[in-house]
Amino acid sequence: CGIVGYIGNQQAAPILLDGLSKLEYRGYDSAGIAVYNGEKIDMIKSKGRLKVLSELTHDGETLPGTLGIGHTRWATHGSPSDINAHPHFNKDESIVVVHNGIIENYLKLKKKLEKHGYEFVSETDTEVIAHLLDYYYNGNPLQAVTKIMHRMEGSYALGIVFQDHPDELYAVRKDSPLIVGHTKGGNIIASDVPAVLKYTRDVFFIENEEIVRMTDSTMEFFNVDEEPIEKESVRIEWDVNAAEKGGYEHFMLKEMYEQPKAITDTFSPRIKDGKIVIDELNMTDEEIKAINKIMIVACGSAYHAGVTSKYVFEGLSRIPVEVDVASEFRYRNPILEEGTLVVVISQSGETADTLAALRESKARGAKVLGIVNVVGSSIAREADNVMYTWAGPEIAVATTKAYSAQLISLYLLAMKFAYVKGEIDDTVLSDMLEDLKSLPAQVEMLLNNKQKIQRFANRYLAARDIFFIGRGIDYAISMEGSLKLKEISYIHSEAYAAGELKHGTISLVEEGTLVASVLTQKELYKKMISNMVEVRTRGAFVMAVTMEGNTEVERAADYVIYIPETNKYFTNSLAIIPLQLFGYYVSVGRGCDVDKPRNLAKSVTVE
Ligand code: G6P
Repeated sequence: CGIVGYIGNQQAAPILLDGLSKLEYRGYDSAGIAVYNGEKIDMIKSKGRLKVLSELTHDGETLPGTLGIGHTRWATHGSPSDINAHPHFNKDESIVVVHNGIIENYLKLKKKLEKHGYEFVSETDTEVIAHLLDYYYNGNPLQAVTKIMHRMEGSYALGIVFQDHPDELYAVRKDSPLIVGHTKGGNIIASDVPAVLKYTRDVFFIENEEIVRMTDSTMEFFNVDEEPIEKESVRIEWDVNAAEKGGYEHFMLKEMYEQPKAITDTFSPRIKDGKIVIDELNMTDEEIKAINKIMIVACGSAYHAGVTSKYVFEGLSRIPVEVDVASEFRYRNPILEEGTLVVVISQSGETADTLAALRESKARGAKVLGIVNVVGSSIAREADNVMYTWAGPEIAVATTKAYSAQLISLYLLAMKFAYVKGEIDDTVLSDMLEDLKSLPAQVEMLLNNKQKIQRFANRYLAARDIFFIGRGIDYAISMEGSLKLKEISYIHSEAYAAGELKHGTISLVEEGTLVASVLTQKELYKKMISNMVEVRTRGAFVMAVTMEGNTEVERAADYVIYIPETNKYFTNSLAIIPLQLFGYYVSVGRGCDVDKPRNLAKSVTVE
């Protein structure tokens, strides 16, 4: 989500809309603004892109006033709708709030407030904040703000206006980004730098549990004990375009760097007291035990996440798994019997082929679980149950962080099923969870190795064909590695099950052809090495991605990338990182449009 706020001698609404337009990359399913008009607070909000809000407000003209707050939303609690859009009011509309983050204990707070007669109109966690402020407010805004900070758990960046303090704008932050800046004739708050760059280059980065009180000319900072604190501003040198990408050259690179967070955000709410708790699954242990087949249906990279999970589900839970691309599944008269669980995977939740497969499955009486990134999307609404990947908005067409978050969701599900079925015990589960928790730091380490991969990638800018080979899970990794490369660099590439290459495709290998080999599964090292030798003796240049310690591989490879030790079922999460970087740098080196490759769309809503 993105928030903005303004107080000054200019009209607030146009500044808010302009600021929000710079933050739309942070989320874009609904938007709203609230402005104090000299007597009371007016609010307009709406589902859809910011454009809808600009039209509704005639570019801000229908909301006159010089104090206001605005929000563009990426839904987490409650689907995208006019009502769930921010800002949110207290009951007599005298306090208004915009929020970015998640209030983890909002249900508890909501129950408490309901006991005191508060009525809720939205499904959001944010509405709790407005009512909680109302509950504690006795004429002193700063005091009410610190009181709610003591009650709220989770993350928040807030912009708040109190109608009876019309010369003040309040902002607060905990674990969600927030900056403030002083402009000519006013002050501005925002989630991120791009929203303020037009007005100022000197900004204050608000730290955790700090509060800002500003008027049109002053700016004061407080800690949670209401004590004043000193802060220094920072001069921003980035240009406006780079700012939206947080200083990264492309959204794809930025999103690759967001993978450690996407992974953590996806697993951490689902691990409680050493156990996996997936409330959204809505299945009893008996129902889980009754699953006798899993059908996974998806497209593109989501399909590749599904292929990986086949090995994980079967290996851990011993439940047979079939994986299909959605456009094939529908037309093959699929056999869905009692006990079949259909899992559809989709970042956007709008892919037409996947949605059609979901509908087909439901029509045939199957239970459908969606693994989806966009809250409130069609697949999320129509699936019987939804497990969200918490990757946040993804802008680059080639998916990276959403794919990584899909893998994590699937691992959790497979471990859960295996544990309930008694296929793994407490010791195995706790070892696996330890390995899972190490993934974010390991991913980060691999990302930081990017220069080495860039140098290697630069040698293959003119390649005609590149092959990826692997066995088992490593074959699934190869498929995604190959797709990443070809979709953004336009170099022809194929992934092959390593043992199958010799049955035909090996005839395409010439002197110097790059064959990227993935070998993360110890029991398959020897077989993989034989396949690498096969292509190398025919002139291939062999690159290998393997586990630390497997130095044996250097016998058969010309170039080796080592990844750290992890559980054998989690290796995809690490091995994919150098392959993503490789695809990215080949694309950059060839001067391709990395974030928007030709002929492709982020979300394909036609069959
Ligand atoms: C498009 C994108 C792919 C994506 C696929 C599935 O083809 O270009 O990157 O993997 O759709 O999208 P979904 O939103 O369902 O995950």
